[in-house]
Amino acid sequence: MVEKATLRTERLLLRPWRDDDRAVFAQLNADPQVMEFFPSTLTAAESDALADRIVALFDEQGWGLWAVEVVGSAPFVGFIGLNKVDAVLGYPSVEIGWRLIQPAWGHGYATEGAFAALRFGFDDLALDEIVAMAVLGNARSRRVMTKLGMTSRADEDFDHPRVPAGSPLRRHALHRIGRAAFAQRSEAPGGFDSANRST
Ligand SMILES: CC(C)(COP(=O)(O)OP(=O)(O)OC[C@H]1O[C@@H](n2cnc3c(N)ncnc32)[C@H](O)[C@@H]1OP(=O)(O)O)[C@@H](O)C(=O)NCCC(=O)NCCS
Repeated sequence: MVEKATLRTERLLLRPWRDDDRAVFAQLNADPQVMEFFPSTLTAAESDALADRIVALFDEQGWGLWAVEVVGSAPFVGFIGLNKVDAVLGYPSVEIGWRLIQPAWGHGYATEGAFAALRFGFDDLALDEIVAMAVLGNARSRRVMTKLGMTSRADEDFDHPRVPAGSPLRRHALHRIGRAAFAQRSEAPGGFDSANRST
């Protein structure tokens, strides 16, 4: 059995999933505002199937889309983490992604947790680059990418192969950060020194 990583930040625990996360995950995936930039909300069965896939990858790799806990206040607020997207981009690549319940928005949690996940990707997985993708109009998510030091170029916008042709949600921006830029971002004043790792 592969050892499963847990990441600790100042306010968050990014941990392996538990069965009791699934009820809140289903509520999250059924919320039209959370799912505004996805083709549809998910039924409870679809949400459970997604949780199954996330847990299976976690069991296999020891890392992935971590369940996020706000320490001392909320046992599960969604996921933040890393995911292989070779099939989407057509070359070996790992993305960072996030999806949180609405009451958890606007506290800087996505940025804080994602920073720890980026550090894990560069330090523990020895990745050279991590990408992120979002519907062009998903300003909230793209703002998180920018705050993390990720950059995008209009000439790398692409049509997401899993979104139906003709959908206004098909066009995506591709954001990237490389190892050197991440190291610089970590050391910058007001950087992210609060994100510590433990396994
Ligand atoms: C995207 C998401 C994870 C952000 O979580 P969060 O914890 O609120 O993010 P943070 O607080 O770290 O940062 C959000 C930033 O977006 C800004 N923001 C909020 N609403 C915004 C808007 N409508 N337009 C532009 N920026 C916005 C915030 O002000 C903040 O930036 P700031 O720190 O410079 O003020 C959360 O909104 C979410 O789960 N959304 C639904 C799922 C989703 O879209 N996932 C991503 C798919 S690519």
